[in-house]
Amino acid sequence: MSVHTRRLVLASGFALPVLAVPSLHARAQGAREFRLGTITPPQHTWNVNARSFGEELRSASNGRFSVAQFPAGQLGNEATMLQQLQTGALDMSWMTTAELSNRVDAFAAVHAPFLVSSVEGAIAMLRSAPALALLNGLPQSVGAVGLRYGMTGLRQMLTRDAVTSLADIRGRKMRITPSAPIRDFYTLIGTAPTPLPLPQVFDALANGQIDGLELDFESVVNNRFQELARTMLLTNHSAFPMVGLVSARVWATLSPSDRELIRGLASKHIDAQCDGMIQVEVDNLRRLQQSAMQIRPVGADFFGDAVAQWDRQWGPRAPALAQLRALPRV
Ligand code: BEZ
Repeated sequence: MSVHTRRLVLASGFALPVLAVPSLHARAQGAREFRLGTITPPQHTWNVNARSFGEELRSASNGRFSVAQFPAGQLGNEATMLQQLQTGALDMSWMTTAELSNRVDAFAAVHAPFLVSSVEGAIAMLRSAPALALLNGLPQSVGAVGLRYGMTGLRQMLTRDAVTSLADIRGRKMRITPSAPIRDFYTLIGTAPTPLPLPQVFDALANGQIDGLELDFESVVNNRFQELARTMLLTNHSAFPMVGLVSARVWATLSPSDRELIRGLASKHIDAQCDGMIQVEVDNLRRLQQSAMQIRPVGADFFGDAVAQWDRQWGPRAPALAQLRALPRV
């Protein structure tokens, strides 16, 4: 964990796993604590959401189930957590589809550039039949059950220096979340994509290892990147989904009614996370507009024909792309 992330975790008062104490009755019934890992800092909406899910799961199961949270990559980055889910060493994770796209090409579809143009559009896309169908294959492909899609806000590009045209970011080291389809978009627009997991980004920008970064408003505000970046290209260029995952090995040990309970509550809380993101995005943009960082709205045309090239590259590997592009663009 980076020094910056450790500071965020300690400041949150959330440093230790959130442990629920099961009642004596629940213990006698074989109470079970699920370990849930995330890459995001403690105050992030995914962790707030995982906490409310855990609390309702505990009361709805009369204390038989509880959730211990491990935010901020305490259990390792997402690639490591996915391996832990596979072996059953980790029970649950609220994890980016960016990580899934490294294992399953089909998930590139939900990361397509300029597929949606608003948070509302991203929510509709993630609740569409073609997007939901992608979750069905997860137990076989990654050893985890996909409960429901959550999300961050839309993705933007921040740079240390001023940017007025695409030429200004050509050859620049742009931090991306480690993900092959995201990397390919940044290569197509002429930058030098630099994959870094979220907890390492602050130090990388502060020490000059990168020239810019791709992020959503919430992560920018949480890390105060507006104080380090001179420009934000307001691109809204892609959705950034999360999936609530349960280890398939763990899932196999649960009764049908317990699976239904967990899936139902996770869906309820994760849906609320998505719906809440609409206002979170408005509030965070307002905060960023009050900073010294220059905000430049740009559209797909700023990137030449990179979007069409990306579709040609990824369309055959991510068949849902055509169906998602055919949805009404919101
Ligand atoms: C990122 O890698 O940029 C990221 C991951 C999870 C939540 C938000 C951002």
